[in-house]
Amino acid sequence: MTSPIDPKELRTAFGSFMTGVTIVTTRCADGAMVGFTANSFSSVSIDPPLLLVCPGNFLSSYDTFANCTYFAVNILAEDQKDIANIFASYKGDRFVKVPHQLDPRGVPLIDGAAAQFSCTRHQALPMGDHCILIDEVTSFTHTDRAGLGYRAGKYFHIGLEGNAQQDVIERT
Ligand SMILES: Cc1cc2nc3c(=O)[nH]c(=O)nc-3n(C[C@H](O)[C@H](O)[C@H](O)COP(=O)(O)O)c2cc1C
Repeated sequence: MTSPIDPKELRTAFGSFMTGVTIVTTRCADGAMVGFTANSFSSVSIDPPLLLVCPGNFLSSYDTFANCTYFAVNILAEDQKDIANIFASYKGDRFVKVPHQLDPRGVPLIDGAAAQFSCTRHQALPMGDHCILIDEVTSFTHTDRAGLGYRAGKYFHIGLEGNAQQDVIERT
């Protein structure tokens, strides 16, 4: 039976949702560092501290991400579009081109990111053509740098200090 859902249209519709941009990193069993650009990030829980990200089964590093124990999620700052592009498409060693440090488990953290989360795998749920990786945050850093945005296949940033009206809403 043919699906009534057109995948291209669905991708476009999903793309209406404005997101930030992250780089998800880990290490292979042989020690090689791998990473990909992801906007499927979401915070999940404060107690316990959980986040999620969804690697697709088309990634060259999919098996590594679906099976590794330690990960990091780096929320890119607004001036890090080049890094997003490297981790979305460059086929060589992405880490040679991007300054980074290693966390205590040897997982790369991207320099200059707005926030960095070192994580241990909590659960991996294969779901359709992606896998939902739910990770427990073991340590993190954050800055007041504005994040890079993404919508409809394009990066955007609000601009330093933002032209946007800011309504402060405390979330309980
Ligand atoms: C802004 C942006 C967000 C992306 N988000 C995801 C994502 O959440 N999950 C995913 O699997 N791929 C995502 N991708 C695509 C991957 O970054 C890309 O396919 C991957 O880096 C290719 O790596 P590979 O050559 O090692 O397979 C995104 C790409 C961009 C530009």
